[in-house]
Amino acid sequence: MNPVVVGISGASGSVLALRTVEELLRRDVPTAVVCTQAARLVWQEELDTPFSSTLAQWREHPHFTSYGIGDLRAPIASGTYPTCGMAIVPCSMNSLAALAHGLSSNLLLRAADVCLKENRKLVLVPRETPLHSIHLENMLTLARMGAVVMPPQPAFYLKPRSMDDLVRFTVQRVLVALGVEQALPPDLQYREKEE
Ligand SMILES: Cc1cc2nc3c(=O)[nH]c(=O)nc-3n(C[C@H](O)[C@H](O)[C@H](O)COP(=O)(O)O)c2cc1C
Repeated sequence: MNPVVVGISGASGSVLALRTVEELLRRDVPTAVVCTQAARLVWQEELDTPFSSTLAQWREHPHFTSYGIGDLRAPIASGTYPTCGMAIVPCSMNSLAALAHGLSSNLLLRAADVCLKENRKLVLVPRETPLHSIHLENMLTLARMGAVVMPPQPAFYLKPRSMDDLVRFTVQRVLVALGVEQALPPDLQYREKEE
């Protein structure tokens, strides 16, 4: 199986990246990670652990690979290297803007740009609030180019009770959007109430 690329940028929501990678590795899906400098800062802030420690744990998995943000010679920087697509989770407004304008100044952006030009799955989990018109226009541009734009918003009708419920919902939706899962688990599907 070709790898799924997970790009981690510096928006709030490091736990979403953590759980996405964990879920991919739990399924033995080959996973290639690239993380921006800002994402490392947010990781420390939100998870109280250095990103390098998490990386060291992930590296114990035989299907895990990671690349440096400046490594533009990494295979995922080329359209000739086959992948099963990419998720940017969480996606900062900075990376979103660069991507919407075809800028590829680091490996995360280049790998995502490759997905767009090769018509591969690209799942974006943008996190910011409130959103101004440029944020919204950039999302529209990318949606029109085929990206799936999936803000980490709860399905209130599922009555989430904890942070874990919220995170699990978003991560499962990312896995479905990537095609790693065919459908959401039954407890995350909307069901008609029995009379
Ligand atoms: C603790 C923290 C939280 C942040 N949260 C967000 C956020 O939710 N959304 C966002 O777009 N930027 C957020 N930022 C700002 C980005 O990290 C910043 O714009 C950075 O330049 C993004 O760079 P990158 O796209 O290369 O990761 C946050 C920064 C910090 C330090």
